[in-house]
Amino acid sequence: MNLVLLGPPGAGKGTQAKRLQDLRALVQLSTGDMLRAAVAAGTELGRQAGALMERGELVPDELVIGLIAERMDLNKGGKGFILDGFPRTIGQAEALDRLMDARGETVDRVIVIGVDDDALVARIAGRFTCAKCGEGYHDLFKRPKTAGVCDCCGSTQFARRPDDTEKVVRARLKAYHAQTEPLVGYYEGQGKVRAVDGMADIETVQKEIDQALDAA
Ligand code: AP5
Repeated sequence: MNLVLLGPPGAGKGTQAKRLQDLRALVQLSTGDMLRAAVAAGTELGRQAGALMERGELVPDELVIGLIAERMDLNKGGKGFILDGFPRTIGQAEALDRLMDARGETVDRVIVIGVDDDALVARIAGRFTCAKCGEGYHDLFKRPKTAGVCDCCGSTQFARRPDDTEKVVRARLKAYHAQTEPLVGYYEGQGKVRAVDGMADIETVQKEIDQALDAA
């Protein structure tokens, strides 16, 4: 099964993708994570993407399509992908259709996670991750069981993203509404969209996604 998780910044795409990856043995492909890795490694791609990401703008289609094509090639013969943060423009969605076609596969489901803009700003401002294993946390909604210690790997080092300031989050939301939201209509036209209420707690959202995937 190939699955697209669509939703605004902070909707919970990454949180749910990690759970689905474990539960359904699918491979998570997050263009945001790939781009942040390129920035951290100081590659040419990272240099081009970094300035745009800091302003909350989208990276050009050809760069992210190339990244996704490369990762899909590295994962042949698996059970499928969870696309997290890709596609984000109609051009990217059309390119994804072509990539899937070439593999004899298709996008099976598009889960749209809906959350109010004001709730998103609060969510993102409270977000942090383990600097060692990348496990995600939140100041209010998902704290480590022992304060200051990662539940998964025991590390005491945590990090916050530079694009998680209120000003940049507002720019990311603007980009979402202008460039990514039209994808809902694109995939509705293909009969693939299932909407879930992303305002519910993390477990409830997970259950809703499970039901949406298991329903015909
Ligand atoms: P990217 O990394 O994809 O960021 P994003 O889409 O803005 O999404 P986030 O990662 O911020 O949020 P999320 O939906 O994954 O939420 P999360 O699960 O973390 O992209 C970053 C940048 O890279 C872009 O701005 C762009 O510049 C560039 N880029 C990336 N892909 C691109 C592409 N395809 N084309 C062009 N440019 C691209 O949850 C957020 C917080 O809320 C967490 O703390 C979590 O614990 C908490 N939480 C999650 N669910 C719930 C819940 N139900 N209730 C309460 N709290 C919750």
